[in-house]
Amino acid sequence: MNVLGIDIGGSGIKGAPVDTVAGTLLEERLRIPTPSPSAPGPVAEVVREIVEHFSWTGPVGITYPGVVVDGVTRTAANVDRAWIGLDARKLFADTTGLDVTVLNDADAAGVAEATFGAGRDRRGLVVMLTFGTGIGSALIMDGVLIPNTEFGHIEIKGHEAEHRASDHAREAHDLSWDKWAHRVQEYLEHIQALLSPSLIVIGGGVSRKADKFLPHIELTGTPLVPALLQNEAGIIGAALAARPAGHEIT
Ligand code: BGC
Repeated sequence: MNVLGIDIGGSGIKGAPVDTVAGTLLEERLRIPTPSPSAPGPVAEVVREIVEHFSWTGPVGITYPGVVVDGVTRTAANVDRAWIGLDARKLFADTTGLDVTVLNDADAAGVAEATFGAGRDRRGLVVMLTFGTGIGSALIMDGVLIPNTEFGHIEIKGHEAEHRASDHAREAHDLSWDKWAHRVQEYLEHIQALLSPSLIVIGGGVSRKADKFLPHIELTGTPLVPALLQNEAGIIGAALAARPAGHEIT
């Protein structure tokens, strides 16, 4: 079953058709910078551009960097506030004329990693954390997603975790990899204490540079691994979520 996956991020909107059985992209992905401001109308136009680029007429899965319940976007920590309370599924369906599924970006990446990547065949609780513009989280218990966790916003030393330890915070505060890794470690210790996971997967843009910071992190008690699908996890997870009933992998 082939599905178009589109991953809306703080800096880029990326899409590609996905073979949802193999968990691979069928064509080179298209990346278009996220419009500024990242308001719903301009973002939907980019989604339409991606659909047209691939001449797509099938189902489409779309990630959004905030809470999504029944297609309605409920929060907007790193995008335009006009998304709050918007029926995003309807907006994208009206703009593209196609069947659309919308879900949180970290949830999509987590499902992709749990199905085809670093969490494959893992029982118990897998926690995926994505470090990018913000910090996203996904909980997958025995292969089943518990959606819309928002562990990037837990408080550490009086600050929201994502303001201290996202990849954006590393760049904005000009932190060395070593210093940033120390903040990530504090954060992971909190997560470990709260959830006792069987595995933590580190994703987002930084997963490509795991060799720069993972050696500085010591987490006793929980295996910690970089994401395998890296930049493609969001696209693949979006496509998995949009498979019509009957096409799920069992
Ligand atoms: C949002 C999450 C999102 C994460 C990564 C956070 O600020 O609240 O919903 O998954 O950023 O984009």
